[in-house]
Amino acid sequence: MADYRIRLATESDLETCVAIATDAFHIYTKERRREHLQQLIPDGNVLLAEECSKVLGYASFLTDWFNSTFLKLVVVDPVARRRNVASALIETIARDHCPSRRFFSSTEADNLPSIAMHEKLGFKPSGFLDNLPQPERELFYFRKVR
Ligand SMILES: CC(C)(COP(=O)(O)OP(=O)(O)OC[C@H]1O[C@@H](n2cnc3c(N)ncnc32)[C@H](O)[C@@H]1OP(=O)(O)O)[C@@H](O)C(=O)NCCC(=O)NCCS
Repeated sequence: MADYRIRLATESDLETCVAIATDAFHIYTKERRREHLQQLIPDGNVLLAEECSKVLGYASFLTDWFNSTFLKLVVVDPVARRRNVASALIETIARDHCPSRRFFSSTEADNLPSIAMHEKLGFKPSGFLDNLPQPERELFYFRKVR
């Protein structure tokens, strides 16, 4: 049984989320990550997992991406990994934030933990995107939400 809870992020969570994401995806600077979150948090597009007031991880998403929901980023503090935190965040998006019932996500094609997670959560591969400013191409995933 999980002892963390999932809730929408607020502006007061901004710096905590920025800090959690710092080690993930070096193509984004801390400042760029902060700008992203500053735009997404007020729109209700960032969920976080919290345990005893400590943020374990967060997920940001769009609901207007090709008239579908798109998971922009899920990131979990290394000390809290393999406790289903990312899974719980993603399932909450699927349940509460997928008005079109079409749920897309993506990951770098060499990100094995992320690939394993997407497969476990029932996402199916949905094509690659080349020419991004990162060493690996991006692998997209799709899941139909009931
Ligand atoms: C990928 C990431 C979000 C997973 O978070 P997490 O909370 O540890 O994931 P969960 O505990 O929900 O794992 C769900 C399943 O994913 C798979 N998985 C997760 N991490 C894995 C790893 N390191 N190796 C192999 N499989 C892994 C497993 O099948 C796992 O289920 P299990 O623990 O019952 O075997 C986390 O490793 C992370 O923050 N990585 C850096 C950012 C990133 O790559 N984000 C994804 C791209 S958007």
